[in-house]
Amino acid sequence: MQQKDAKLFFIATWGCQMNSHDSEIMRAILEKNGYQWTERQEEADIFILNTCSVRRHAEQRAIGFLGNLKNLKERNPELIIAVGGCAPQNPEVREYLEKKAPHVDIIFGTRNYHRLPEFLNRVMVKRSRVIALDGEDEDLPGLLPAHHTSTVKAYVTIMYGCNNFCSYCIVPYTRGREKSRPLEEIYQEVQELAAKGYKEVMLLGQNVNSYGKDLPGAINFAKLLAHLDKIPGLARIRYMTSHPRDFDDELIETIAATRKVCEHFHLPLQAGSNRILQLMNRGYTREKYIQLTDKIKNKIPGASITTDIIVGFPGETEDDFLDTLDLVQTVRFDAAYTFMYSPRRGTPAAEMENQVPSEIKKDRLNRLVDVQNRITLEKNKLLEDHVVEVLVEGRSKNNPERWSGRTRTNKIVVFEGEENEDLTGQIVEIVISCAQTWTLFGTLKTVSAKKESSSQSRI
Ligand code: 5AD
Ligand code: SF4
Repeated sequence: MQQKDAKLFFIATWGCQMNSHDSEIMRAILEKNGYQWTERQEEADIFILNTCSVRRHAEQRAIGFLGNLKNLKERNPELIIAVGGCAPQNPEVREYLEKKAPHVDIIFGTRNYHRLPEFLNRVMVKRSRVIALDGEDEDLPGLLPAHHTSTVKAYVTIMYGCNNFCSYCIVPYTRGREKSRPLEEIYQEVQELAAKGYKEVMLLGQNVNSYGKDLPGAINFAKLLAHLDKIPGLARIRYMTSHPRDFDDELIETIAATRKVCEHFHLPLQAGSNRILQLMNRGYTREKYIQLTDKIKNKIPGASITTDIIVGFPGETEDDFLDTLDLVQTVRFDAAYTFMYSPRRGTPAAEMENQVPSEIKKDRLNRLVDVQNRITLEKNKLLEDHVVEVLVEGRSKNNPERWSGRTRTNKIVVFEGEENEDLTGQIVEIVISCAQTWTLFGTLKTVSAKKESSSQSRI
């Protein structure tokens, strides 16, 4: 409801799904506290920047945005600016924000965003700056409200932080040590979502395979999935991100045996050279990685496998890179997110010698993307004339006369529906007529809204 005189807030979000979900939570909490959300920057009284640190580029974009807000604040001193998320947890950025960006009123962390109303009050009442970064002993916030962006699928955080310390990665420094949410709390959250009509949940954690290690009892990620699979009304369970080192047989068996856990494996490879994998501190070899993906392909035929790859890690030679290309051609990923290595101060890799020049990184990235796009297209083409199960997410953004959804394997499908029927949230069967690299196009076969998940159609 529109509240008179309510302060309007705008949230800018960078980064991963975890950040997007944190922003959904901040929005719901602020709305509960009488603030009003706006997507129009020009009318905002409060700006909240939810930042990402994983690569320099993302960090710079947030800092650039902050630069523009400086002029705005000079014209309107009442404006409140809050910067949270990963970047302020990075000492380099923190120092910048504290010393060089006096127009920032609130600097907060990745685990205390639920205290924003309190921070805003402090700024408004005491007119003082709030610096509230996370300590390791920060208590988990418990059940929090969230304004879910979609009406069909919802994010659910299952754990915070990361203990892995891959040598290139800043996340363990910005998001702290691993802490799992209690199983009962996650169960309750997912149950409530399903009761509200959400069909899919995406379980979030930096390394979901570590789920439960810090909890009492014999709970682990596989057991969590098996529990959530029983929740009525829910059709699909996804998760992000898993670590190939910790992806054990129990988990593969559980995914094969459950009905709702989707047959999509996102397994960040990062590099295909054993020497580089070791320098990255990844804890597996290329042989182990191939073994794992073979096991998945055998146990769950039709499963899709996607990955993250970094090119230009310090010391990466042409031969190392060719090992990556070779592995990509061996595993034949359905898709890959590819990145140029970005040095992050404070991580071991940033101090390593033989940093790779950016021209070489760009060249390797282009070659990798070419190889992967060809494979993605070839794999998608295999689906032509096949029937796939699609959860409809809504109208296609590019063509509102069409519908858009995803297969269980996480491929985007666009199709024409019947007139005057709202298919949002329904599970439909689609015959694929034309497969492209990023999208599959098809025609509607059947609508099977009541079916929770299909055991035959595993695509
Ligand atoms: N440079 C480039 N890419 C990175 N990633 C993480 N840290 C870096 C970095 N310093 C990538 C990894 C990870 C994904 C989320 O981002 O591939 O899986
Ligand atoms: Fe970073 Fe490695 Fe943790 Fe992923 S597993 S967040 S890459 S340290």
